[in-house]
Amino acid sequence: KIPLLIDTDPGVDDALALLMAFNDARHEVVGLTITAGNVGLRHTVANALKVCEVAGVGVPVFAGCTGPLLHAAPDAAYVHGEDGFGDVGYEPARRQAEAEHAALAILRLSHEHAGRLLLVALGPLTNIALALKLDPTLPERVARIVVMGGAVTAHGNITPAAEFNIYFDPEAAHIVFTSFPRIELVDWEATLAHGLLHQKVVGWLQADSERARFYERVSRKTREWSEDRRGDYWHSADGLAMAYALEPEGALEQVDRPVAVELEGRQGRGATVVDWQRHTGRPDHVRITLRYDQARFERLVQAALAAA
Ligand code: BDR
Ligand code: CA
Repeated sequence: KIPLLIDTDPGVDDALALLMAFNDARHEVVGLTITAGNVGLRHTVANALKVCEVAGVGVPVFAGCTGPLLHAAPDAAYVHGEDGFGDVGYEPARRQAEAEHAALAILRLSHEHAGRLLLVALGPLTNIALALKLDPTLPERVARIVVMGGAVTAHGNITPAAEFNIYFDPEAAHIVFTSFPRIELVDWEATLAHGLLHQKVVGWLQADSERARFYERVSRKTREWSEDRRGDYWHSADGLAMAYALEPEGALEQVDRPVAVELEGRQGRGATVVDWQRHTGRPDHVRITLRYDQARFERLVQAALAAA
């Protein structure tokens, strides 16, 4: 099986992505490294542990960075709830996070699975940036890195120009985008192009499984928010990124381009600037997925929710 390490900030759509990963026969989740992002670290760690418990999965969970490398950033509690899981007051998981810091766990696991590791980043890139600063040879041991982040044509979801994960910690994103020789990106615009019809999601959530029952509760608030704001379709950025990470053969349209992260500017901080016209002469190091097989994506989501 392919070893899969997920860096994440659960978060409602992160939780769906985790269930998808747990349900995949070709991958083995070897760790969850947790970052602050959607909400504070205390909640994202507790939420990750809870998803594991609900899924009956004993994968180690490592707490990471409590905030961005440099500048304070707004969270996304208005989308995910104050606790990141829709404020339903769930019973905390019995298990605790490991003592090892997430950045150190990333490095250790990269050695244990050198050359085979699939690293999937579903939150701000702070932990991975810190790991890179501790050991710049990390990319040599990572077989693939898939990042959910960015807005490649500047239809940002947190500012006009920027997507949340990158905007939350642009300096960390800059470190990651300038350190890995190849990155696979699933951005916010791809997410918007792959909405899930609310009616379908509601149907999938009625599956007779602990996972579906739990996910129905924790996602309710954000689904309602989304329906009010965006209409008939619900968008799971991290779910789509995980579908692509697990089954990249489902990609229907991809382009390779250099991508840089804007760190300054009054409008542009956190923007992912894609060199569409190849002005810079830099290598095409980022593979951007523009379109993915929608039926395959939906199948993976449905199966993840229905799994016992
Ligand atoms: C990303 O930001 C978070 O709110 C989601 O979990 C996802 O990772 C989408 O912009
Ligand atoms: Ca996320």
